Amino acid sequence: MKKDFLSITDLTTNEVWSLFELAKELKAKYVRGEAHQYLKDQTLGMVFLKPSTRTRISFEVGMFQLGGHALYLPADDIGLEKREAFSDVARVISGYVDGIMARMFGHEDIIELARYASVPVINGLTDLLHPCQVISDMFTIWEYRRTLDDLVVAYIGDGNNVANSWINMSTRLPFTFRIACPEGYEPNAEVEAYARSVNLGRVEIYREPKEAVRGAHVIYTDVWASMGQEQELEKRKKIFKNYLVDSALLSLAARDARFMHCLPAHRGDEVTHEVMESPSSLIFTQAENRMHVQKALLVMLMGKR
Ligand code: CP
Ligand code: NVA
Repeated sequence: MKKDFLSITDLTTNEVWSLFELAKELKAKYVRGEAHQYLKDQTLGMVFLKPSTRTRISFEVGMFQLGGHALYLPADDIGLEKREAFSDVARVISGYVDGIMARMFGHEDIIELARYASVPVINGLTDLLHPCQVISDMFTIWEYRRTLDDLVVAYIGDGNNVANSWINMSTRLPFTFRIACPEGYEPNAEVEAYARSVNLGRVEIYREPKEAVRGAHVIYTDVWASMGQEQELEKRKKIFKNYLVDSALLSLAARDARFMHCLPAHRGDEVTHEVMESPSSLIFTQAENRMHVQKALLVMLMGKR
């Protein structure tokens, strides 16, 4: 039976670790210049209803390095839900490609796409979740710390798709996830309730960024207005003004704490230029690792090995 990756919760803890081991192996092969064409002659269809730099390029180049091919399918070209229903497009595309990666608005839309597709579907971001981002970021943390023991991640800002995926991550690996957010901008209640029911990692919600970062190993942030919320930006800038990650905030975290951001960043809003460019910033390693981890994911879902 085909396996989708719509949420981190689609993987078991063992599968998360297998993914990390495979990503490490694929990254090492890439660095050594060794061929690793595990998806030779396979094609990934990439459906985008929102813009992208990292997701598009990392999947496209990743497929090429695996010996396969990727097709960029922007919404306007295929006319999803305007020219043709998701359910029809899903079945049509499934007849041509070996996997689909989709970036959509409603999470229910990608669930519908996956229901009708006969090939694996990967979530390249929805309004609810951004699983590829967070699973890659956890790999990055494991890579630089060499362990995830006693890990504390402090997320400062909006309880958005990235924050929700962090909470999902805590149901598969035991770490502490803290979020400091303004009232009314908490993560999704169902995602949080599921994490509380699994009770593997800890999820803590704060109002005050200074309290959330104390002793944390990773300080993470994301934009205050996600794609689709651009018209709320000015209002959100006022609401989130105390949620800026600057050097003073970083200095309250654990010694050697690292700064992470999924990017794109709005320098001067959620994070200062100084923090982005500081030696503690892992932002470009995160971006690069998207490709290595997603290659491992593609091999796990589409590969024959
Ligand atoms: N972080 C991330 O997903 O970036 P893009 O929106 O550029 O793909
Ligand atoms: N929360 C952001 C993440 C972008 C990668 C958004 O949805 O726009």
